[in-house]
Amino acid sequence: MPDKILIKNAHIVTMNSSLDFFKGDILINSSRIENISENIPGNENEEFDAQDFLVVPGFIQTHIHLCQTLFRNLADDLLLLDWLKEKIWPYESAHNPETLRLSTQLGLAELLKSGTTTILDMGTVNHQDVIFEELIKSGIRAFAGKTMMDYGAIPDGLQEKTHNSIDESVRLLKKWDGSADGRIRYAFAPRFAVSSTEELLRETGRLAHEHKTLFHTHSSENLGELELIKKRFGTRNINVFEKLGLAGKNLCLAHCIWLDEEEKQILKDHDIRVLHCPSSNLKLGSGIAPIPDYLKRGIHVSIGADGAPCNNNLDIFTEMRLAALIQKPVHGPQTMPALEAFKMATINGAEALGIENDTGSIEIGKKADLTFIKLNQVHSIPFDNVYSKIVYSTHAHDVEHVMIDGNWIVKDKKLLTIDEEQIFSNIESNVKRIQSYKY
Ligand code: GUN
Repeated sequence: MPDKILIKNAHIVTMNSSLDFFKGDILINSSRIENISENIPGNENEEFDAQDFLVVPGFIQTHIHLCQTLFRNLADDLLLLDWLKEKIWPYESAHNPETLRLSTQLGLAELLKSGTTTILDMGTVNHQDVIFEELIKSGIRAFAGKTMMDYGAIPDGLQEKTHNSIDESVRLLKKWDGSADGRIRYAFAPRFAVSSTEELLRETGRLAHEHKTLFHTHSSENLGELELIKKRFGTRNINVFEKLGLAGKNLCLAHCIWLDEEEKQILKDHDIRVLHCPSSNLKLGSGIAPIPDYLKRGIHVSIGADGAPCNNNLDIFTEMRLAALIQKPVHGPQTMPALEAFKMATINGAEALGIENDTGSIEIGKKADLTFIKLNQVHSIPFDNVYSKIVYSTHAHDVEHVMIDGNWIVKDKKLLTIDEEQIFSNIESNVKRIQSYKY
């Protein structure tokens, strides 16, 4: 394959600071964008005619649970704490390397085929190496880390001793951080304050600073969770994180639905990152996160589908659409315009992960992470505002090609890095293994 690829005649949605949108060409040299212009001469490059496509920055989802994809449609219509205790924790503790591999492949296949090129994944407690192996093989850009759980009433298979959980996290960090030419990064992942000791949170926070990486956790998602935190720590979730020295821009908090004034101020003062999960928040009946309020205050917000059993898809188009629509009945139709939702799924995602110099927009010098969306579909024409088209009328199956790091990962809807047939043939037996596991 030639090192240079010339994408011709594309409708390019750059998401640069001027929000340029124009018809033109993108020259890719190895993994990066070398040039973008209305007309780049062909020379010896491999050419790809993209006249039928919108080319957008590869989507970024900042909160995913790949280990849960195999539990899709097996854990519905429950509140968060019941859902975790009755279904998700037992299922996660039932994972062996084979079921976890399949779950990861299934999640990655869905994400990649629908145009997501970067994720922050929560991992799981056991066999985390398998997730890293599959992330690397798939070609996706990812931050991930093992889930850490060392406190409370959790299944034996997930309960960890504090020092073991930390030692294993550090082992994984040393093994995987920066692998695949920097495409893979480690992110520490204590599950949430409810299942963490203070020591785990404090020490993990220190390690995340020392290794200049992310601290990924859940916060303030559900009122029952808030009660448990209040009972145990005598204060609210964000206050706990601040008190333990975790507040900083590497702190990535999924959900953040139920915050008081003081907590919102802490997020703003410390540039803490909110990972918004609209589908999951609706399906678990958790609530509607006050995202317009956060944005008005200058709090950083990006977006993610969460895990398959609380969504039940990993489709970024559904998340963007819902992120916009759920605010409108309360705050009026002008709240959360399509561009705002698209930003959360592209450049804001890159900023949340600290990789905005590499991805999140289509600009010279950045990595070639590109999603190609079919322009002319009966459900998405005509259009005037391109962001409306993407957020309000495009479907996941309109994604035709996906490139990451300059490599084709999906071409003509076919996933080139994962064997889908093998996934289909292994699903039934592996789901049975999960469901028949005795705790
Ligand atoms: N809080 C703690 N663990 C989880 C999880 O697996 N999913 C969600 N949505 N919230 C959580």
